[in-house]
Amino acid sequence: MEGRTAVITGATSGIGAAYALWFAQDGYDLIITGRRRAVIEEFAQKLRKSYGIKVEVVIAELAKPDQVEKLIEKIRHRQVEVLVNNAGFGVNSFYQESDLEIMEQVVEVNVLTPMKLIHALLPGMIRRGRGIIINVSSESAYLSIPKNSVYSGVKAFLLSFTEGLHLDLRNTGVKVQVVCPGFTRTDFHEKMGMKKSKQRNKGLIHWMSPEKVVEISLKDLKKEKVICIPGIHTKLLIFFGKILPKNYYYKFASTFNQKNKSNSRKNQIKQ
Ligand SMILES: NC(=O)c1ccc[n+]([C@@H]2O[C@H](COP(=O)([O-])OP(=O)(O)OC[C@H]3O[C@@H](n4cnc5c(N)ncnc54)[C@H](OP(=O)(O)O)[C@@H]3O)[C@@H](O)[C@H]2O)c1
Repeated sequence: MEGRTAVITGATSGIGAAYALWFAQDGYDLIITGRRRAVIEEFAQKLRKSYGIKVEVVIAELAKPDQVEKLIEKIRHRQVEVLVNNAGFGVNSFYQESDLEIMEQVVEVNVLTPMKLIHALLPGMIRRGRGIIINVSSESAYLSIPKNSVYSGVKAFLLSFTEGLHLDLRNTGVKVQVVCPGFTRTDFHEKMGMKKSKQRNKGLIHWMSPEKVVEISLKDLKKEKVICIPGIHTKLLIFFGKILPKNYYYKFASTFNQKNKSNSRKNQIKQ
């Protein structure tokens, strides 16, 4: 008999890996995706050994519609109880200097892929009268800073989309949540050119562990919170960002991200 299954995208490292660990400890079988084959295979093997669960690894470039389609074909008819749309990447680049193709990939991975996966899995969840969908957004959904416009835009989409889904799915038994983490110690910022040694707490900037983000997300889910903003520092940053008059906010925000060079070519599709 098929056990409870959780699908987690982008589980090679960071927040996705922390969700995978959590659901593995809870006895779920897993279908996890990533691109760094050696890293994710080793992680999957550890989970199988430690928790006696089934773990399937799907290597997929989620900016490529044909690879997303293959993933959907694998999971569409499975009894998936949990879907975590976590895979995502950012590009540190002024929009006017950016590579449009890469910006399109940011939209594919953060917007179209979650939409497609949710659409494929919802009929089964609704038929069974239960399911959990978690979309990993960001504090950037609320706060724009330079060199981050497309990323902020896609994360704002995830926030608004999830709230809409919550309204559409009332009385179906399917729970949805959008998670808006602040600075989290994962591979994310290093991929954008920020060394791990530079990831230090300063003022309202407070780095969290991915495990803490996931712990708060799942505690909030139990309380049926649709929007999860992990950590008091992130909540405060978002609060001040919202109440500041816009011209003050733009002045404050424009001091961010001025030192690093644009890295629009760094996170291209891996063939
Ligand atoms: N770290 C932060 O400060 C922070 C803050 C707010 C929100 N977030 C969000 O949290 C989510 C997880 O990021 P993380 O911080 O845990 O970073 P991470 O350690 O870099 O993990 C990102 C995961 O997404 C996968 N991924 C990225 N681009 C992909 C693509 N084009 N196709 C397929 N898979 C792709 C990566 O796969 P491979 O590594 O195998 O290529 C990896 O498994 C992202 O959606 C990110 O936007 C992060």
